[in-house]
Amino acid sequence: MTENGIRILAIETSCDETAAAVVENGREVRSNIISSQIALHTLYGGVVPEIASRKHIEKINQVITQALEEAGCTLSDVDAVGVTYGPGLVGALLVGVAEAKAISYAKNIPLVGVHHIEGHISANYIENPDLKPPFLCLVVSGGHTHLVRTLDYGVYEILGRTRDDAAGEAFDKVARAIGLGYPGGPKIEEAARKGNPHAVEFPRARVGDSPYDFSFSGLKSAVLNHLNSCRMKGIPVIQADIAASFQKAVTDVLIGNAVKAMEDTGMKQFAIAGGVASNAALREGMRAACRERGVAFYHPSPVFCTDNAAMIGIAAYHEYRKGRRDGLELNAVPNLKLGQR
Ligand code: KG4
Ligand code: ZN
Repeated sequence: MTENGIRILAIETSCDETAAAVVENGREVRSNIISSQIALHTLYGGVVPEIASRKHIEKINQVITQALEEAGCTLSDVDAVGVTYGPGLVGALLVGVAEAKAISYAKNIPLVGVHHIEGHISANYIENPDLKPPFLCLVVSGGHTHLVRTLDYGVYEILGRTRDDAAGEAFDKVARAIGLGYPGGPKIEEAARKGNPHAVEFPRARVGDSPYDFSFSGLKSAVLNHLNSCRMKGIPVIQADIAASFQKAVTDVLIGNAVKAMEDTGMKQFAIAGGVASNAALREGMRAACRERGVAFYHPSPVFCTDNAAMIGIAAYHEYRKGRRDGLELNAVPNLKLGQR
């Protein structure tokens, strides 16, 4: 234990970032090292799982050494090792889990398995010292779209989720269709800045039996149909206009469901999390919607929105405080559900 409290070494390898961080007391980030494989996967237009696992193996030791060095500590100064054990790509998760288990065994340090989405939600605690549960959270990443009520640290009630594609997945697929490449989110955001969000009125899907659920596959198909029809009619496709109109359709639906949840629950704090939460249009739209309703709005900086290990360290801290300890039987769980143990 440090003079200040609990120090956690955190490891994240669920997708295409090899990341390690040292965090103290559940809020202070002493180091946050991310080795991104994006440039490599861009060559293939998306994440190639086998390549991701191999790259994690190559990078993991180096990333952990750097995280400890930057934090000015060694493994002997660490109180627990936190690691993402799901959801994610199984081969990628296994690299981090095996590494964390080896450190835990060799140094006799407690091991704490972390849910990746719990990590994303917990990223909000880093720069917002006043944020404490309960709060509503919109989690929007490449694999997940969840509207969650965070009742306490590590205690969640899922109000809504996507029925098909995740929001980030829709960004990635549409970006590919309009020739922007991978990763789609940041590229669509950039192209959209020069486009007209009202150029094409794409559908805003409502899921009949649940006011909080999402569906983005119809929107993706609408974009593809629009592109085909333009091609057939010989009408030029204006990439920026499609990007802006698509982004507006996604953010309208995300914000619409979020507002409904705010109004129905009466909760006075709202946070966003996950890679898509770094999107400025979503962020500004959510900020305005919260302001109009007297709800405090929170979001992480972009570096803490996309995959990183600092957020895993924050979530691990709260699990550690609650007494969670995993044994060497901890395994990767690719489809781990939020709140599942
Ligand atoms: O949270 P994340 O890094 O990984 C997962 O857990 O999935 O999210 C990655 C997703 C990708 O789909 C990416 O296109 C999207 O987040 N994304 C964005 C932006 N930055 C990343 N989507 C919209 N706008 C952005 N600026
Ligand atoms: Zn993620």
